Amino acid sequence: MTQRTLVLLKPDAVRRGLVGQVLSRFEAKGLTIVALEHRTIDGEMADRHYAEHVERDFYPPLRAFATSGPLVALVLEGDEAIEVVRGLNGATDGRKAAPGTIRGDLSLSNRENLVHASDSPESAAREIALWFPALG
Ligand code: PPS
Repeated sequence: MTQRTLVLLKPDAVRRGLVGQVLSRFEAKGLTIVALEHRTIDGEMADRHYAEHVERDFYPPLRAFATSGPLVALVLEGDEAIEVVRGLNGATDGRKAAPGTIRGDLSLSNRENLVHASDSPESAAREIALWFPALG
């Protein structure tokens, strides 16, 4: 089934000059970029995006990181895109993510892990509406 998913190339991806390399992996897989924006978010937007995590102990450093510089937000479309993109990204913690995945190859952190992707159809609908209201 064709799905859409919201992806963030987090500030570490922009700072490290990995945007093109990560986008290439998504495109090479056959996914289609249907929206893309370079953007710096404030704390309020971070709180809305990470609404389910705002009470967690790890949220303050995650909030600081998410607002630390520009990121690239995009919507990818393709067959089973939500699960496919999470597979390409790899496990949350870059130290544990499998080689061959984006995080497994390029990240050594569970915070500075380069990418975010929606984890369910419900999250994708909410996150796409938040980041790209015109698509929502
Ligand atoms: S959970 O418990 O499974 O819901 O959480 P998880 O999917 O592992 O992580 C959710 C997001 O929190 C980030 N994270 C952290 N940020 C900062 N510090 C620490 N210690 C930390 N641990 C997890 C993680 O990168 C996830 O970000 P997103 O953008 O959702 O991938």
